[in-house]
Formats: sequence, C-alpha cells, structure tokens
Amino acid sequence: MTHPARQLLPTLEEISSGSEFPRRPAGFTHGLCLDPRMELESIAALAERLPESVVCDTAAQALLVPRGGPPKGVLERPGDVIRNLSTNNSWLTVLNVEDDPAYAEMMDTALDQVQLGMRKREGEMRERAAFILTSSPSSVTPVHFDIEHSLLMQVSGSKRVTIGRFESEAAHRHEVDRYFDGSHGRIESMPPELVSFDLEPGTGVYIPALVPHWVHNDPDVSISITLTYFTDASLRDSRIEDLNSRLRRLHLDPRPPGRSVVADTAKTIAIGALRIGGQLRSGIAQARARRGVDGGTERTNAT
Ligand SMILES: [Fe+2]
Repeated sequence: MTHPARQLLPTLEEISSGSEFPRRPAGFTHGLCLDPRMELESIAALAERLPESVVCDTAAQALLVPRGGPPKGVLERPGDVIRNLSTNNSWLTVLNVEDDPAYAEMMDTALDQVQLGMRKREGEMRERAAFILTSSPSSVTPVHFDIEHSLLMQVSGSKRVTIGRFESEAAHRHEVDRYFDGSHGRIESMPPELVSFDLEPGTGVYIPALVPHWVHNDPDVSISITLTYFTDASLRDSRIEDLNSRLRRLHLDPRPPGRSVVADTAKTIAIGALRIGGQLRSGIAQARARRGVDGGTERTNAT
C-alpha cells in the first residue's frame, strides 16, 4: 500500500490533529523545498561550518547491516562531497544542524506547526533536533528504528520509504532491548512491510518512534531533512529503558516501561536521583553520543 496522492495529503500542521497521530505513520506536505537554506550549495557551506557534525559513507548499503556506521567529523572537505554527490557514490549527513542559528529557526518554525496540534494529547515536544541528509543516486538506508518521533521531509530527488512492523510484542521487546544494549536500532531480520511512501520534493512522512523502516532512493541526488523530537511520555520511557539496560548488565530482569505504574514511578525517581548525583547520563544524552559513534540510527544514512 502506498500513501495517497499529494493533493490529498495534509499539511504539517494538520497531521498532528489526525485521529491516528502519533501512533501511525502519515504522509504530509511541506514547503522546505522552497527554502534557500535547503539548496545544495547552502548545505555544502553548512557542512563546512559544522565539520564535526558530518558523517559520510558509501551510498550502496545492504538492507540488513549489523555493524555501526562510520565515525563523524573525519572529512576534511565535507562541502565538496556534497557538491559532487552526482558522481561520488556517497551519502553524507549533517547531524544536529540546529547548532546553526539559521537552521534552528527553520526547524523550530516547522516543529511549532506540529506542536500546535499535539500539545493537547501528547504534551510538550522535548529534545528537538534536525538532520540534513544528502545522498548519491540510488542510495539505500538499511532497516532500523529510532527512539525519537521523526518527520522525514524530501527536498530534492525522490525516494521510497518503507515502514515495517514487528511480528509480535516479543519481537518488538527484543529489538528495543537490543537498542538500549547497544544495537542502535539495527534490526536482526527484515520485518514484514506495513506501508510505503513515495516521497518527492514537498512531501514527507511522519515515522513514529520505535517503528522499523528503510529507504530506497531513486536514481537522482537526494536532499532531505529529518526533524526529530521526544514527547514527555517517550522521554520518560526512553530513560526507563536506559536504566533497564543497566540493570540487565547486573543480571537483573527489569520490567519494561508501561507495565507497572509503581515500577515506572520508582525508576523515574531513581533516574532523577542518579542524574543529580552525576552517576547516570540521560538516555537522550546517550542517544546523541551514539550518533557520534555510528551516525545514530536515523542518521546512519538517509532517513
Ligand atoms: Fe530512521
């Protein structure tokens, strides 16, 4: 199944008012393809301003990739990689472009539209971040999932984003545990397909947290941007998952978040105390650090 024609898609503001948001993936339209900050040369200049935030690898990737990705910040001339994407068989991602004031403004303008509709049901957005994804023709993003909610917005070129599903709650739990134990969202086996979205400039897809997905780019240079965020609830759950991973290392068998209010409350209090004592970094800080090692999950390639 593919998503409806562009003229039937909601706007960024409208998706957050939809009855299935934020549980289901959804296509939408956006205007970032008209923004000069998303032109190839602007992104090349941005990469040169933020060289420590750049990850880059070859465009041809298998769908199942067990290892982590390349290190970040090692390219001497990241702007030139972007300028030559039509011939160099590469993908290059600029992480956390919100570190640049102009791109922070662009991210906030878009995410504020989503927050208008979601605040009533989901609370405040937390830990906003933005990632610009550029790739050579026909690049592939391996199957993975992210712990943040993601808005993947196509700016130039086109791609098919396929959303999968876990075959059982046990399979879901297995992969979430693996994420927090260090898999970074790399999935062990291909999940069944649920729906696919054919993105073109001006369209995007909302991908809920913890939902597997993978991407095939068409035979053109692709430019897209992913905006990510947590909610109060997803941030709390991620911190509990992170604590649970630490408990598993002590050979304990902790309950996943959402199974026990008492256990979740006790863990949230413990996490707060440990963080105050400097003994526990937040799960979110860890997720950001992981991006530094392998480009993260969303940021490993082109979603
Ligand atoms: Fe992703």
